[in-house]
Amino acid sequence: MSFADVLSSHRVVVTVGSGGVGKTTTAAAMAVHAAMQGRKVLCLTIDPARRLANSLGLDEMTTSEQDVPDELFRNHGLECRGALSAMMLDTKRTFDALVEKYASDEEARDRILQNQIYQYVASSLAGTQEYMAMEKLHEVRKDPKWDLVVLDTPPTASAIDFLTAPERLIDAIDSPAMRWFLQVFEGAGKEAFGLVGRGATVLLKGIGKITGLEFLEKVAEFVSGINDLFGGFKERAEQVSDALRSPEVAFVLVTSPDPLAIGEARFFSDKLEAAGMNREGIIVNQVHTLIDEPDIPVAQQIEALRAVMPESIDATDIHPRMSEALGAERTWAVADRGQVERLGEEIGNDTRIVEVPAFDEDVHDLAALARVAAYLTDDAA
Ligand SMILES: Nc1ncnc2c1ncn2[C@@H]1O[C@H](COP(=O)(O)OP(=O)(O)OP(=O)(O)O)[C@@H](O)[C@H]1O
Ligand SMILES: [Mg+2]
Repeated sequence: MSFADVLSSHRVVVTVGSGGVGKTTTAAAMAVHAAMQGRKVLCLTIDPARRLANSLGLDEMTTSEQDVPDELFRNHGLECRGALSAMMLDTKRTFDALVEKYASDEEARDRILQNQIYQYVASSLAGTQEYMAMEKLHEVRKDPKWDLVVLDTPPTASAIDFLTAPERLIDAIDSPAMRWFLQVFEGAGKEAFGLVGRGATVLLKGIGKITGLEFLEKVAEFVSGINDLFGGFKERAEQVSDALRSPEVAFVLVTSPDPLAIGEARFFSDKLEAAGMNREGIIVNQVHTLIDEPDIPVAQQIEALRAVMPESIDATDIHPRMSEALGAERTWAVADRGQVERLGEEIGNDTRIVEVPAFDEDVHDLAALARVAAYLTDDAA
């Protein structure tokens, strides 16, 4: 089963998985494939990695849309029948846009945008990035400019943070603690902040050099600012949460054949299902390929090596080490095969599972991305 139909029948495809498994690479590969197939695609990433930009032929990822010129495809012997753009998510800017949208007036808007606590929360607070990725997704998926948006998610400590981001935002603004905070402030004014302030001074480290009193004032301003935005924010987070369950949104799990990563992917898969989200399949990336053992005698192997090695290297010398490396590679390949088969048995045959081999080199250009895509879409032959 291939991912070609997933790409052609959804408006949004989200890659999720644990750190370093290949989320960014496979997201970019799918975006490249869909663009080549004629769709207008936006590849939205959170990863500022230059590597991804470079492999798309761009100098760097920017927080505004950048087109990947057709010419770049042609340079690699590829044809882009649609269009491909890439954009890096700007958490702070997305948050600012939300504030602008929901603030009751200009003065309230400016008060919160300029507040240092807000600036800290908007750029550094855990969970904000995850939520804002979903927020941005919600915004662009309605944009008729794109047929398909591929979202690459950040490496979250626990990938699950990602899915529950909207709910957690709702909980945070709607929490008893926040309500209590507001009550204390509105009822008793700034004096009552002594207590709260002490607890909150932990935040000070992240916010920079402001005095205790200034800090309390900033907290007060932030809290009343958030209160102003509260209704709009909560409603918005609920919309975003619902949107993630829409049938036009497909989640694709990415894993390596490593047992730990597979374990995490399975856990995540269950969570997706329980949350009513469309889990459209699993990509097992960087699978070691089983290379045949040479079926000629050692003397002949050495001869064959000599023919391809520079003269300065003694083929007899290097042969044992090459045999050892081949043995290790085969051991990896056998272990990987076992892991992929077990995954298939455990997760059920109706789940789309596609393997991408571990290439000798990093995936570093459009051609390599197209090659990854070929495995994902069964065009590899
Ligand atoms: N099939 C592959 N063969 C060889 N190299 C690969 C393959 N897939 C990915 N890579 C390389 O592995 C590295 C990690 O991949 P990638 O950045 O896509 O992972 P990620 O899941 O997005 O990581 P992070 O969680 O840090 O965001 C990159 O250098 C990439 O080029
Ligand atoms: Mg990544």
